[in-house]
Amino acid sequence: MKESSSVARLVQRLREAVLAAEPGARLPSVREWMSREGVSPVTVRHAVATLVDEGLIEARPGDGTFVAVRPESAASAPDYAWQALALGPTRVSSDALEGLLALPVPGAINLAGGYPAEELQAVSLVAAAMGRAARRPGAWGRMPLSGIEPLRAWFAGQVGDGVTASDVLICPGSQAALAAAFAALAEPGAPVVIESPTYTGAIVAARAAGLRLVPVPTDADGVRPDLLAQAFARTGARLFYGQPTYANPTGATLAAARRSAVLEVLEAAGALMIEDDWCRDLGFEGAAPRPLVASDRNGHCVWIRSLTKSAAPGLRIAAIVAHGAAFTRLTASRIIGDFFVPGPIQGAALELVGAPAWSRHLRTLRGALVQRRDALVGAVRHHLGEASLTLIPSGGMHLWVRLPDGVDELALAQRIAAAKVLVSPGRRWFPAEATGSYLRMSYASAPPESFARAVGIVARALHDA
Ligand SMILES: Cc1ncc(COP(=O)(O)O)c(C=O)c1O
Repeated sequence: MKESSSVARLVQRLREAVLAAEPGARLPSVREWMSREGVSPVTVRHAVATLVDEGLIEARPGDGTFVAVRPESAASAPDYAWQALALGPTRVSSDALEGLLALPVPGAINLAGGYPAEELQAVSLVAAAMGRAARRPGAWGRMPLSGIEPLRAWFAGQVGDGVTASDVLICPGSQAALAAAFAALAEPGAPVVIESPTYTGAIVAARAAGLRLVPVPTDADGVRPDLLAQAFARTGARLFYGQPTYANPTGATLAAARRSAVLEVLEAAGALMIEDDWCRDLGFEGAAPRPLVASDRNGHCVWIRSLTKSAAPGLRIAAIVAHGAAFTRLTASRIIGDFFVPGPIQGAALELVGAPAWSRHLRTLRGALVQRRDALVGAVRHHLGEASLTLIPSGGMHLWVRLPDGVDELALAQRIAAAKVLVSPGRRWFPAEATGSYLRMSYASAPPESFARAVGIVARALHDA
């Protein structure tokens, strides 16, 4: 009885001390309370435990007790609920963005990465080029809105015949170029034919532009021209998004015979194509096939070519090549977006691609990636069976791994993540219903020594599922 009343009294004292102090402040020690209140250590511990349970104080073993940092009370918390009515429905769900925005978790084996691991990036080359570019006179001033002339000329030279610097717009990475292209090349509400499966960032950019996505299936040889023609005919779409070279996520490259057929379909439909050439530098079997834009006489292809995958994610440089009214609209869309790309970034990119060390870097990067691809292919075949891989990509960074029908790959990816292995669930890569269960696994973002263990964990989770 005596014990419980002294606990109650001490609880009251503690409450007063909490009210008088700032959140996070240290409270008197057990010993101090004992001498101040003439109570036993057991009484102090009971009183402290009561206030910890109430969330008023925080006990840090070995350090002491502190006034809890309280969340704001419901009455004083801001109320943003009205915004739901003001903003109306969203075009892009936060779930779709989750995979794009996720940063690698420390200590995890990252088979979900969208860029090569840091040791494969041209970090020191970029840093040195950036240092020089940032100190050049005028570097921080206003830049030409379409980009600096020599960098535009370098991108034009990548296509060759008939393309000049004046057909090129420099952008801060190809995601920005995609957003500008979907906004500029179709009216909100218009249909856009889009490869399925395809890059999540393209799906969300098209949705954000208010376009209606019309999936067109791809196979190991890329998009099927006959189905592309049907999609145009059925929907009246005048815009197509595709990745003819080392597509993300499947790794497929559009077969030579289909390249001219796709151009013919575009001409017949009077349609534009956004040709996303996101990893042209990452081919393993000699030079990458020529982009479609190189054979396009009449301005059907809008070519987007990025440097971020082969240089470093932070060197946010890509280019758009386009002609005619499409070029004019894209220029307007880019200016509305952010005026121009900062001079030092453009200067660094120009210096980088002109340096002899750049070709050496690309050779080393391709060599490392092909080794990693083979290591991951080996691990996947060993643990998940031959049938899980229908295509071995000849470039890029990813394997598109087929799972047995009916597997919930979202739940599977979450289970695997708990074991610190990150993979990308296939569903996020489909513009409409998924045609099966898949995981996208990247061989670029984790060390190859970790592949066998990581895929073993995937296989065990799959077995348990
Ligand atoms: C197919 C594809 N296009 C575009 C991008 C955007 O890349 P960035 O904005 O870094 O050029 C990515 C990135 O993963 C991609 O996979």
